[in-house]
Amino acid sequence: MLSIVVLISGSGSNLRALIEACDNPLFPAKILAVGADRPADGLEHAEQFGISTFVVEPGRFSSKEDWAEVLLSSVLFHKPDLVVLAGFMKILPTSFVSALSPRLINLHPSLLPEFPGAHAVRDALAAGATKTGSTIHIVDSGVDTGPVIRQQEISIAPGITEAELHEQIKRIERVQLIEVVRDIADGKIKLEEIA
Ligand code: GAR
Repeated sequence: MLSIVVLISGSGSNLRALIEACDNPLFPAKILAVGADRPADGLEHAEQFGISTFVVEPGRFSSKEDWAEVLLSSVLFHKPDLVVLAGFMKILPTSFVSALSPRLINLHPSLLPEFPGAHAVRDALAAGATKTGSTIHIVDSGVDTGPVIRQQEISIAPGITEAELHEQIKRIERVQLIEVVRDIADGKIKLEEIA
């Protein structure tokens, strides 16, 4: 059974999908805890399922490194096999990444290396792109630069809004996340070999 800590910053719809998948006793993974960098709405999904939560807010620390050290301790306390960044919107320092990578994966709403950063959906629309998609990748010390595990492409409909397009992407991300976690648990995806 693959054990997971999920980190979020927002509404946690991907987290919710993974929690529901893990709730099936036949699914080969379980969520040990959910952490956030703010009192994120998505923490409620964990609370509903009795999963423990923690919040480590950067504003309470004098440096990013101090914040990341406490965040890392909070993650390692649970001894996870895998850490999933599911809409975690803070850039993590190298000390955090190197302690966990390659068993640290991130969801990103574009076909990386296109449109990295915090506004991938907006940036794809502003660039006039006709297609975009979702990426799950191993986190490395760059911003959205780590080795790609899986990607899925979708067309961008003319006139679609940022919110509509992001919701379309999230629909494919949720499926992709569950499949990738299952394949890591089953040994079909070997993170050490991709990294
Ligand atoms: C997801 O689309 C994820 O790819 C994105 O945040 C959203 C979280 O949605 N992450 C990034 O943009 C990271 N750069 P959710 O809170 O509904 O799961």
